Amino acid sequence: MNRAYEKTFSVEGDNFDNAGTASIEIKKILKDLRIDEDVLRKTAIAVYESELNIISYARSGNITLYVDDDTINIDVEDEGPGIEDIDLAMQPGYSTATEHIRQMGFGAGMGLYNIKSCSDLFEISSTPNVGTHLKIIIKRNGR
Ligand SMILES: Nc1ncnc2c1ncn2[C@@H]1O[C@H](COP(=O)(O)OP(=O)(O)OP(=O)(O)O)[C@@H](O)[C@H]1O
Ligand SMILES: [Mg+2]
Repeated sequence: MNRAYEKTFSVEGDNFDNAGTASIEIKKILKDLRIDEDVLRKTAIAVYESELNIISYARSGNITLYVDDDTINIDVEDEGPGIEDIDLAMQPGYSTATEHIRQMGFGAGMGLYNIKSCSDLFEISSTPNVGTHLKIIIKRNGR
């Protein structure tokens, strides 16, 4: 790739009808950019879980994808309740998902843990009553 690629996707809170739309589009872009299968898989998981968390918990958010020759960068910023105890939220199995969310098959409490597992760099910061910010970097191996 000669030039870096960047695009921002907006995600609306509570709109489960659109769940996965941004993730599917990002997957297509990465395929077109001929990103390696394993890197694509990890990116797809990280983006999907991030998108679902905005829909499940925030009012609205943006996912920015930035791809250069060495890395995939995903920035996730939302406006919402934020996360009071980040260490707790990161624990696999911890979830505050409502019954409504669980009935749709989400709320296992694995999203943030899986995002971190897929990332080479993962940073999370959050301000209660303001919002949450994730910075995710996945290396494009062997390049
Ligand atoms: N963007 C966010 N804004 C506010 N709270 C969040 C946000 N993302 C996660 N949380 C909180 O952290 C908890 C853990 O999130 P995580 O994604 O790991 O699991 P989950 O969304 O509950 O379930 P799963 O992702 O497995 O469907 C959530 O239940 C919620 O309380
Ligand atoms: Mg989640």
